[in-house]
Amino acid sequence: MRIDIVSIFPPMFAGAFDHSIVKRARERGIVRIDVHDLRAHTTDRHRSVDDEPYGGGPGMVMTPEPWFRAVESLREEGERGRAILMTPQGRRLDQRIVRELAAEERLILLCGRYEGVDERVREHLVDDEISIGDYVLSGGEPAAVVLVDAVVRLQAGALGSAQSTVEESFSDGLLEYPQYTRPAEFRGWSVPDILLSGHHAEIVRWRRRQQIERTRLRRPDLLPDGDADTEVLDAN
Ligand SMILES: C[S@@+](CC[C@H](N)C(=O)[O-])C[C@H]1O[C@@H](n2cnc3c(N)ncnc32)[C@H](O)[C@@H]1O
Repeated sequence: MRIDIVSIFPPMFAGAFDHSIVKRARERGIVRIDVHDLRAHTTDRHRSVDDEPYGGGPGMVMTPEPWFRAVESLREEGERGRAILMTPQGRRLDQRIVRELAAEERLILLCGRYEGVDERVREHLVDDEISIGDYVLSGGEPAAVVLVDAVVRLQAGALGSAQSTVEESFSDGLLEYPQYTRPAEFRGWSVPDILLSGHHAEIVRWRRRQQIERTRLRRPDLLPDGDADTEVLDAN
């Protein structure tokens, strides 16, 4: 997979992809990540990327031309890719969308700044718009880091065990079950006996029930009709 990121602050990505799973995926050639400076695609002496909003109002708006030039020049090399504008007005990122994006050959992520980006970029340049949540960041860069991390760990070979992405939160529409490791007793708090019992089938059943219970308590919106019949989910 190939991921290109376009930003006016490329240094913000320094180190972001140089650790742990993303680093290993890059080293193994599973993903290639390149960060591009939007200002390299300006034509004026000041390398300007913003201007005052038509109709008045506070702040500055990013002009369309550098974005079109940047994305079009990237598309000239190889795969067309899916160009995604990072915006609080986009589809709200969840694991289903992450899986959808992880299946793409190439992503081109556009990180906005200021009051946002001229509407014509949204209308005529990008293929998709993604928000990482219902809050406003000062720029798309942290959102791009979140998206890249979530997408890269789903690439085949990126994780030590492929099973990790099967059994984690949201993979089957539920939160993950509680996890414990050594010591079996810590400051008087014990690990549930069932996990030490060695009864694999019982452990699987206990974990399933825990998943359903904690999803019901913490995120009932994830369950069918906002609340689930435990037995029905159990049977699946
Ligand atoms: C200050 S925000 C602009 C917000 C815009 N005026 C609005 O009200 O929709 C500047 C940039 O940060 C990025 N951004 C802010 N919040 C975001 C979010 N929740 N998800 C993704 N990108 C976000 C976008 O690229 C946006 O263009």
